[in-house]
Amino acid sequence: MNFVPYPTETKFMRRIDPVSLETKEKVDWSKNIAINAATAHPHHDREGATYNLGNSYGRRGVMPHLFPAGEGKNDAADLSGAEILCSIPASDPRKPSYYHSFVMSENYIVFIEQPIKLDLLKFMLYRVAGKSFHKVMSWNPELETIFHVADRRTGQLIKTKYYSSAMFTLHQLNAYEDNRYLIMDMCCGDDGNVIVDFTMENLWASGEELDKVIPSQSKTYEPNDHSLINLPYTTATAVKTITVVFLFHEDLYNDDLLQYGGLEFPQINYTYYNARPYRYFYACGFGHVFGDSLLKMNLNGKKLKMSLRRGEFLSVIKAPLMS
Ligand SMILES: [Fe+2]
Repeated sequence: MNFVPYPTETKFMRRIDPVSLETKEKVDWSKNIAINAATAHPHHDREGATYNLGNSYGRRGVMPHLFPAGEGKNDAADLSGAEILCSIPASDPRKPSYYHSFVMSENYIVFIEQPIKLDLLKFMLYRVAGKSFHKVMSWNPELETIFHVADRRTGQLIKTKYYSSAMFTLHQLNAYEDNRYLIMDMCCGDDGNVIVDFTMENLWASGEELDKVIPSQSKTYEPNDHSLINLPYTTATAVKTITVVFLFHEDLYNDDLLQYGGLEFPQINYTYYNARPYRYFYACGFGHVFGDSLLKMNLNGKKLKMSLRRGEFLSVIKAPLMS
């Protein structure tokens, strides 16, 4: 690939030369496909096609669509052949969820309908008025999180609905399949106000807003002896209720992560390990509202290493630090 695209939740991408870092042309998603905005985190399959999720605004509200493009070219900015493969209706069309990324395993994509909701009326008004979208999103801890699973080749949505208690997520790490199970790892939390209130005012404030915790008010399903999961390497469980499968996660860290303030912006060695079992991921530690350390996690034993000390900052990484 000669250029890397850098999109960020708009209908535009900007090509950047990865060697000189020179800014190249702008690419408009909407000229190839009826999409108003797409995520900044497309996926590539091993045949070189790119997959992304993008919104369209229509009579049925804001709806995310999965679309593959650029078959065989491994170029997220090549939208040739792009077509909508799958549309995922929101459980409440008036209140679609905010999403920032998604995961793709060998056979499936997972869309997370999280309880961070968009107020469509405010969204349209602010759009017309050209105002900031602050306060367009709200955190609804009384709602549950819904995982929609689609076949990435046919676009068909799996009928079973998977639920968990209220959580918010920006970045997911990876997903892979093992013996008819789908394992999905992500950075998430149980207080979505962190995202809703993530404004410059709050970043420069004392941090009170960001520390505010509203406990989840979701219905509770206790894990029981009838977990559907029978994998030796995880304590995650799933129980079947009359209508859905309810999921209980396993933390991918030990208490030593707390000294770094948690982590975000996870990266794996994507070329070799996306959609496959993997051992390491890298992320920023958040001892401050801005990332202040570089962490490496060995998922085999959940061993955490700090690779870059606080106070040291990277400007450009020319080669990935993956192993
Ligand atoms: Fe992101």
